[in-house]
Amino acid sequence: MKILGTGSALPKMTLTNDMLTQYFDTSDAWISSRTGIKQRQVMSDEHLEDLAAEASRHALENAGLTATDLDFIICSNVLDEFISPPLGCRVQSLIGAQCPSINMNGACAGFIFALNTAEAYIKSGIAKHILVLAAEMPTRMVDWTERGTAVLFGDGAGAMVVGEGSQLKAVHLATKSAIDCLYQKQFINSTPFDIQEANKKSALQMEGREVFKLAVSSAMKDIQALMTEFKLESKDIQHYILHQANTRILDSICLNLKEDKSKFHQNIQRTGNTSSASIPILMDELNREGKLKEGDRLILSAFGAGFSTGTCLLQW
Ligand code: UT7
Repeated sequence: MKILGTGSALPKMTLTNDMLTQYFDTSDAWISSRTGIKQRQVMSDEHLEDLAAEASRHALENAGLTATDLDFIICSNVLDEFISPPLGCRVQSLIGAQCPSINMNGACAGFIFALNTAEAYIKSGIAKHILVLAAEMPTRMVDWTERGTAVLFGDGAGAMVVGEGSQLKAVHLATKSAIDCLYQKQFINSTPFDIQEANKKSALQMEGREVFKLAVSSAMKDIQALMTEFKLESKDIQHYILHQANTRILDSICLNLKEDKSKFHQNIQRTGNTSSASIPILMDELNREGKLKEGDRLILSAFGAGFSTGTCLLQW
């Protein structure tokens, strides 16, 4: 599989740390030092499918293709206005594609799971050109009176058009069931036959410290396993593009790997944690800035609720 084009889209409203002090007791100093985040883009009058379609159009343009060239759309998404039909179906009509579309929910690691599925479809001949898309609005998942979670997130969409090639060298996926540290239940209708209490409206629940430890240990394990499998040393990897969850998580992984900080790209300072959209948004920025050179090796690694992790090795 090869990446033919990248695209991204962020909502227009910028929410700075200082602006957050209107809603709860917090400060720019606390948020910056604990997370690295200075501001995030949040949805106001936008709909998620509009951001997703915009990111997809940019990726198609970057690939030099049109929507009718697509054979499949794979969309990574956690929260959407619709339970059904899924987001990818609505994006299909907005961009003018005619191919089948599926949605995947792999939480924050969802984009790597989607890339892995895209590669399997390409290898098996099911599809030639696939739009792999992630669009997320985690700011609508949190309780806006709860400072421990509300400060962490931003909204956005990232996309890639992928086709045949040998850029993707390996993918490693893992799920280790650990629900309690990071989850959100949704309201579902009850029936006359229910004997259990119905779920109430609820917000994202998170044990921050536990998630922090799991994120560092699982990403380290996955990255080291890939490097050992391919007999790679530090000098062989030019870019680490990790899920933008927290600067301190990224710094810990970098330090434990004894890597150069400049290889660990970050945009979390501007975007916050955009869940599964964070890796394709960052990839698009690096691609458009010309930072990815032919032959460069990239490690992509994401972690999140599940606890699920996805790591892959790409050669640009
Ligand atoms: O995609 C995966 C999503 N999740 C993550 O990546 C989260 C991973 N975890 C983390 O990044 C960190 O655990 C957090 C940034 C969420 C929290 O940092 P922490 O160093 O683990 O802080 P804490 O939760 O232990 O809280 C320390 C203090 C508490 O006050 P007391 O009890 O010491 O008086 C909190 O009430 O900081 C307080 N606090 C805040 N203060 C100001 C919590 N949130 C805030 C806030 N502003 N926004």
